[in-house]
Amino acid sequence: MPSLPTPATVLITAGPTYEPIDAVRFIGNRSSGRLGVELARAAHAVGLDVILALGPNTVAPPVLPDRMRIEPFRSCADLEALLADLWPAQAQVLIMAAAVADYRPKQPAAAGKLRRDAEGLTIQMEATPDLVAACAARRTPGQKVIGFALEPAASLAHAAGEKLKRKELDAIVANPLETMDADEIDGFLMRADGRRDSPGRLSKPMFAAWLIDRVMRM
Ligand code: C5P
Repeated sequence: MPSLPTPATVLITAGPTYEPIDAVRFIGNRSSGRLGVELARAAHAVGLDVILALGPNTVAPPVLPDRMRIEPFRSCADLEALLADLWPAQAQVLIMAAAVADYRPKQPAAAGKLRRDAEGLTIQMEATPDLVAACAARRTPGQKVIGFALEPAASLAHAAGEKLKRKELDAIVANPLETMDADEIDGFLMRADGRRDSPGRLSKPMFAAWLIDRVMRM
């Protein structure tokens, strides 16, 4: 039996962050947001209310007028502000699939467009705040926080276990780096109590449906 009360709201973050250098340039990553969008669709399909926080230049989100709200973000700072509004106030579950940049330019974005200089350009970077760890720290009893780990297959289980503990998550989706840009996923779910669940290699929509079913039973 599902243990999440329905109606319940799930907050899903998906896609990359773009960290601005000036008015037109940024440092970003290759995340397409595809799995996060499939998770939103799967959560909606089982009757959950969904808030989908979606980064720049991702695949198109589903057009589902009822029970689905889309909140756009661009940078880590935007997503941090959005999460401050939404979590823990507006959802029971947070699925943090966004590929948040680990570093961003230390200097605020330059106004306008930087000009080419034969001397070159040095950009000093600073670590971004760990958003999912901060959300886990402020969850209230009964709320669940699920993170993601994208790591080479050989070190995946070890790295995912370490992240699960360090960020104090309820569970982490371990996803081999090798499946990036692929149509299928060969990932598994690791829980704080040590249980591990693997559905085998699945398409992203099927993996998303499997994961939402597991999350509803947590
Ligand atoms: O630490 P690492 O980036 O490998 O962990 C991945 C998980 O942490 C993902 O769930 C990602 O959304 C989240 N994360 C975050 N804030 C960051 C970096 C990653 O919430 N600055």
